[in-house]
Amino acid sequence: MFIEDMQTQVFDSNAMTLTRFVLQEQRKFKNATGDLSQLLNCIQTAIKAIGSAVRKAGIAKLHGIAGDINVQGEEVKKLDVLSNELFINMLKSSYTTCMLVSEENENVIEVEMEKQGKYVVCFDPLDGSSNIDCLVSIGSIFSIYRRQTSDGVPALQDALQPGNKIVAAGYALYGSATAIVLSLGSGVGVNGFTYDPAIGEFILTDVNMQVPEQGKIYSINEGYAADWEDGVHNYIAAKKDPTKGKPYGARYVGSMVADVHRTIKYGGIFLYPATKSAPNGKLRLMYECNPMAYLIIEAGGLASNGQISILDIVPQMIHERSPIFLGSKKDVEEALSYLQK
Ligand code: AHM
Ligand code: MG
Repeated sequence: MFIEDMQTQVFDSNAMTLTRFVLQEQRKFKNATGDLSQLLNCIQTAIKAIGSAVRKAGIAKLHGIAGDINVQGEEVKKLDVLSNELFINMLKSSYTTCMLVSEENENVIEVEMEKQGKYVVCFDPLDGSSNIDCLVSIGSIFSIYRRQTSDGVPALQDALQPGNKIVAAGYALYGSATAIVLSLGSGVGVNGFTYDPAIGEFILTDVNMQVPEQGKIYSINEGYAADWEDGVHNYIAAKKDPTKGKPYGARYVGSMVADVHRTIKYGGIFLYPATKSAPNGKLRLMYECNPMAYLIIEAGGLASNGQISILDIVPQMIHERSPIFLGSKKDVEEALSYLQK
């Protein structure tokens, strides 16, 4: 009896893997070619490889500076360089993309003509750089767009699309477990998958994720408080003031993926506002703010730059930055009301 119970718990013979989930969703679209599924499979492979490298980074000597020479006289690749190469190689060889935008590359990456497909992918292959060497959670972030130009050489305008044109977006969190959170389109919802190392697959664990309408946590780097505008000051002060209700807890990992994942699961607000020295904030619109805003909004939350929805910003440059306020609907609305006072 016990053994049977153990077996049914340990061996699920009908698990919803990420690959199976993507194929199932693809079947809902009569005209689907399977390209998006193929593309997502390749991203999944990159994430599995990055996850494996993250887990053994110390012993594999993947920390440190790219270009170091190891004892065998080989060049050591830093974890973020390795992650970028994995994303680029897997995406190019998926035969579904024509242009890539990576945090690690100054210019757009054009895919060789013979490998081109109809999608553009923007990604941060390994976000949370300050946390890599101290083993705190880090992540990968990506968003997928359809190219705007028809055939031929893709143009910059194929990359410079607002977030409201996203076809699918997601992130991978390399935390106490590895997880992928994904949305396959507007109105389709957000689902979370946890990596099972025993079978090498991501398994659906968080169905139709919803950001709580209101949370009890604020998440911001308070070290920059002297540089904030008054609205941010007053909002954060209110969240700590017992005369204005039960004070909120403060949580700030400093890895956007970890801070956003907690916000989706527990609710609350994540802020990276403009400061005097960084008037556009720090986070990058195309591969940090947009995919995260898309997921948060799909999960019932809000994401704003202080004036408009993050998804309505039309990018002018691939590496442009934006202030961001995202999370539970009521919390973000309250923060925005302070900014507008
Ligand atoms: P990175 O792309 O260099 O890793 O920087 C992005 C990270 C985000 O993950 C995080 O939200 C933010 O930087 C933290 O910045 P700060 O240390 O200024 O609080
Ligand atoms: Mg980053």
